[in-house]
Amino acid sequence: MYSKILVLDFGGQYNQLIARRVREQQVFAEVVSFRNITVEGIKAAGYDGIIFTGGPNSVYDPASPHFDPAVLDLGIPVLGICYGHQLMAYMAGGEVFSAADRSEYGKVTVKHAGSSLLFSGIPAESVCWMSHTDYVKQVPAGFAVTAVTDQCPCAAMENAEKKLYGVQFHPEVTHTEFGTRLIRNFVLDICGCAQNWRMDDFCRRSIEEIRAKVGDGKVLLALSGGVDSSVCAALLAEAVGDRLTCVFVDHGMMRKNEASEVKNAFSRWNINFIGLDASESFLEPLKGITEPERKRKIIGEEFIRVFEGVSKQIGSVDYLAQGTIYPDVIESGLGDSAVIKSHHNVGGLPDFVDFKEIIEPLRLLFKDEVRQLGRELGLPEYLVSRQPFPGPGLAIRVMGEITREKLDILREADAIFREEVDAYAKKGLLPEAANQYFAVLLDTRSVGVMGDARTYGYTVALRSVTTDDFMTADWTRLPFELLASAGTRIPNEVRGVSRVVYDITSKPPATVEWE
Ligand code: XMP
Repeated sequence: MYSKILVLDFGGQYNQLIARRVREQQVFAEVVSFRNITVEGIKAAGYDGIIFTGGPNSVYDPASPHFDPAVLDLGIPVLGICYGHQLMAYMAGGEVFSAADRSEYGKVTVKHAGSSLLFSGIPAESVCWMSHTDYVKQVPAGFAVTAVTDQCPCAAMENAEKKLYGVQFHPEVTHTEFGTRLIRNFVLDICGCAQNWRMDDFCRRSIEEIRAKVGDGKVLLALSGGVDSSVCAALLAEAVGDRLTCVFVDHGMMRKNEASEVKNAFSRWNINFIGLDASESFLEPLKGITEPERKRKIIGEEFIRVFEGVSKQIGSVDYLAQGTIYPDVIESGLGDSAVIKSHHNVGGLPDFVDFKEIIEPLRLLFKDEVRQLGRELGLPEYLVSRQPFPGPGLAIRVMGEITREKLDILREADAIFREEVDAYAKKGLLPEAANQYFAVLLDTRSVGVMGDARTYGYTVALRSVTTDDFMTADWTRLPFELLASAGTRIPNEVRGVSRVVYDITSKPPATVEWE
């Protein structure tokens, strides 16, 4: 089986990132809340190493998370980070102190003495990222201080014999210069993990597991064309072939060529692909509707109705598959995430689809791993690296009432803008990453002139954002030449557009989408 690291979650904000950094070393890591596991559970699970995460608290706060100190005596190597470092000191009998004048936030120079395996290959002085007020004033018996900063007398400590290590800084964030090296040192040299978490291997094992589980059963998947459901479909297609039925509902508010691209991508598998052009039944109830939330609701309800119809035809299935991925699992508290997600994802699907069990073959994977798996399965790059696209599609990018004409105009303008951004990105000419970029059709018309004639057409707004998590976002500083080219091409190539503008608001105060 895989080597594996437990990321014991005490509530810090970077905990998913720690697991990702470990996995970048091709070692499996899972995040488990300190509430959901015991020392016996850790022992039974056979972890090769444990990382205590940061947390928002002080160890002396009565409400702060604590853990059974016996975890330090299991003989499993432990690395404590920030709060986890202080907690380790506290649990082992050291002294943690709170002093405002010792607090450090941001980039700080850390100096290590050179004797620690944890710092092997890391320069004696390097920049690390800190965020703390409490600090370890006295290390526990058997521990030694291995690094300091000007403010902090214990930036790192260890009991090498017992393989217990603590660092006050955050090695998982990119601002820590040699953070990846430190995590590598811990995982590979101290824990002795094998680098066997690889997507080709995961792919092979998953296919075997799905086959063993599904047997002769039938599997149903709602395919949206997004990255997660597409990769899930490809994995299942490879595993069970024609016992998989994928339902792709085209609600008429997809991007240009999207429906045919999805269909083509799956044509090489012998699966039951049901592609439904349901645009008429979606557009009808949207007539005259201008309020964004109402649009969303109508589309959600219609989607359920359409899917209900299809599932009646299909009859009962054994398994309902879903493209739930690891961040969804973590965010839903690692509880019974299957139930939470199925409603969250597809609007109550399991309530009317007659099935025995949900299967979620991607539930251990981060987004970048899902993309890697997709490549492994031979899905085309345009599907695998697709940017996020809202469920209601172009409906929330056509301001005001939705009509076929407006959707067609937007589809063309959007395709041109994306083509321009893609071309610049491909040549490495974007000064910063454009993480989501699209066009919006405004409900206002403006006067223009083409040839000798006056025109009176729609205004297209271009939007591109740079973001890590889509919770906050900045507008992308796209090159002027790119904007100029889009500004020329769109009114010339798309009938009905007389003006193009670029959106320069960040989130907050705006949102990524216009509705
Ligand atoms: P906002 O507009 O809230 O968007 O800043 C953040 C991210 O969420 C996507 N988004 C949606 N996705 N259904 C979805 O599946 C929706 O109704 C929806 N609204 C926004 C948006 O594209 C961006 O990536």
